[in-house]
Amino acid sequence: MSEANGTVLSQFRDTVHKIKSYEEALGVLYWDLRTGAPRNGMDTRSESIGILSADMFKVSTSPELGELLSALEEKGAYEELSEIDRRLVTETRKEYDRSVKIPPKLYQEYVVLASQSENKWEEAKENNDYAGFQPYLDKVISYTNQFIDLWGVKETRYDVLLDQYEPGMTVTQLDGIFGGLRDQLVPLAAAIAASPHQPDTSFLRQTFGKPAQKEFSLFILQQMGYNFEAGRLDESAHPFATGLNPGDVRITTRYLENDVTSALFGTIHEGGHALYEQNIMPELTNTTLCTGTSMGIHESQSRFWENVIGRSRPFWERYFGELQKRFPGQLDVSVDQFYRGNNTVQPSLIRIEADELTYNLHIIIRYEMEKLIFNGGAKASDLPALWNDKYKEYLGIAPPNDAEGVLQDVHWSGGAFGYFPSYSLGNMYAAQFADTMERELNGMWSLVGKGDLHPIKDWLAERIYKYGKLRTPSELVLAVTGKPLDPQYLVDYLTKKYTDIYKL
Ligand code: CO
Repeated sequence: MSEANGTVLSQFRDTVHKIKSYEEALGVLYWDLRTGAPRNGMDTRSESIGILSADMFKVSTSPELGELLSALEEKGAYEELSEIDRRLVTETRKEYDRSVKIPPKLYQEYVVLASQSENKWEEAKENNDYAGFQPYLDKVISYTNQFIDLWGVKETRYDVLLDQYEPGMTVTQLDGIFGGLRDQLVPLAAAIAASPHQPDTSFLRQTFGKPAQKEFSLFILQQMGYNFEAGRLDESAHPFATGLNPGDVRITTRYLENDVTSALFGTIHEGGHALYEQNIMPELTNTTLCTGTSMGIHESQSRFWENVIGRSRPFWERYFGELQKRFPGQLDVSVDQFYRGNNTVQPSLIRIEADELTYNLHIIIRYEMEKLIFNGGAKASDLPALWNDKYKEYLGIAPPNDAEGVLQDVHWSGGAFGYFPSYSLGNMYAAQFADTMERELNGMWSLVGKGDLHPIKDWLAERIYKYGKLRTPSELVLAVTGKPLDPQYLVDYLTKKYTDIYKL
């Protein structure tokens, strides 16, 4: 590489490092706010976050960064870059263009609106007052539409929003994927509901002490290969994982005394996100490639551990005795009863409480509604009726009020349109990865049955984790499984699992 290009590259790398340092600092501040920061300091803390975020935005949209990017993209210079640097240039360019297309004043207005709208949503949900929230939601939709125009419409307007969370994903693709999923899952759910073999869940309705739950959660994290030298487990109202750098990936959970597995599955879920971030190759540290490649792929890793492994029969064959030991006299049932009792399927109103199967229908409903908003011109006033009709159609139930219906999720109030599909994509990617793993890893399920989970973590690290954002989601799926994303893997996985549990 020429000396001039070398200098440009090192200036570019320094700027990326600076952006990443802001991200890390903000990550610590957010983590602290959500895990027990003193209340009296919160307002001042919020201001500090505002100032640091504005500074970070300035660096990421600076003309200097634009010039460095252009220089590195020039013919001759680009060819000399390593694979990592090329990808870093492409990725930074994408983010840069997105950010500079929004006038700072418009963005500022939007940040204020989004925060007001989220507060209003919280109030509206509590008081079942959709009418009070509706004008805010209309404004958030209108700003989002302005952003779509500024960013440039792709095949459809909604495609622009999908691409933020799942790079390369389109409405055309998702219509096919979700259509196939819906057409097969709706009858499967009906067959399950009609089965005379409904699992017994009465033994789950007890009080389970928090200390033993915590101890068991820590034990399972250890079994998964979560590195406590590079992380920690805390408590928060909503469980989350935050990857500050591969040497510091923190997770949280929430203990419920009336539910023996809620904190555990929450911990395994966030632990799955954390394993991904702890095992990214060191060469990507201090770059913006040092994170998951998309929301959908990230979610595939948490859901793989939580559902495919954590809710499997072999897992409980190994670990149910360990759980019983921690709650003496309380779980006097067989492994089969425990396994089936923790894998019931039941159409319900609330997404975050849904089972592995109907969860996907909750997502498809939100996807179809977001499409109606951005491609079909639906207004905020249309949403409650649309919501209720779709719940009736796909899940056979309608919410008794908006608080348990259209108001249940925070996402839309803060403008996170296009995010919901990630959850179901995560389920689909997870099932497809699991299929490859079963074929490549000799005796995968007997390893789980023995509690030998490290070969599974190592396989994921080698095939998925280490690449961070170096491969796009579609490149990654193709490289790991030899095929593009195919919803049939999830349908087959769910069919097999519930045919056994419900004796269909
Ligand atoms: Co998650």
